[in-house]
Amino acid sequence: MNGTELIRARRSIRKYKAGEKLPREDLQTMLEAAMMAPSANNSRPWEFVVVESREILEQLMSAHPHTGMLATASAAIVVCGRPDLQYGKSFWPQDCGAAIENLLLQATELGYGTCWCGCYPVLERTERVREILQISSVPVAIVAVGVPDESPAPRGFFDPQRVIYR
Ligand SMILES: Cc1cc2nc3c(=O)[nH]c(=O)nc-3n(C[C@H](O)[C@H](O)[C@H](O)COP(=O)(O)O)c2cc1C
Repeated sequence: MNGTELIRARRSIRKYKAGEKLPREDLQTMLEAAMMAPSANNSRPWEFVVVESREILEQLMSAHPHTGMLATASAAIVVCGRPDLQYGKSFWPQDCGAAIENLLLQATELGYGTCWCGCYPVLERTERVREILQISSVPVAIVAVGVPDESPAPRGFFDPQRVIYR
């Protein structure tokens, strides 16, 4: 799949084949892709918590009301901001967003399904996830990853009215 096809094929996947384990090398490839994202001042103010423990996945589901897909996901990759690592202005949420999208696209190319579940800036959710994972960074999103058990069709939302030329 080339880049054009990949971007159009990616969909949020909320049903996975239960019990599948993600090979470490695939996880590594996804994390490398995430960390290749552009970043303001090249601060790279992020860290990634890979959760494979069923017990912790259950806890995440109780902390975030829209993460039911973790019941069958192989793992969650929690993308966290590290404001302490950044120089100058607060671009860390944008940097993390770029990393998340790279991760989703890489996972799609490897044949995995993903679902981006936002945490920050919902502060109560962010705080709960932080406690569960015992981290001091800021959970921006829980990304569910697994072997897809559904295949929603590609679709597009291109709206020419949202484009302004000057
Ligand atoms: C910031 C952000 C937060 C999201 N949070 C959730 C979530 O909590 N649970 C969920 O099932 N999907 C979540 N999504 C996925 C969106 O619902 C999904 O991307 C959107 O409906 C478009 O569908 P598609 O990803 O299949 O193209 C989130 C997406 C983004 C970008």
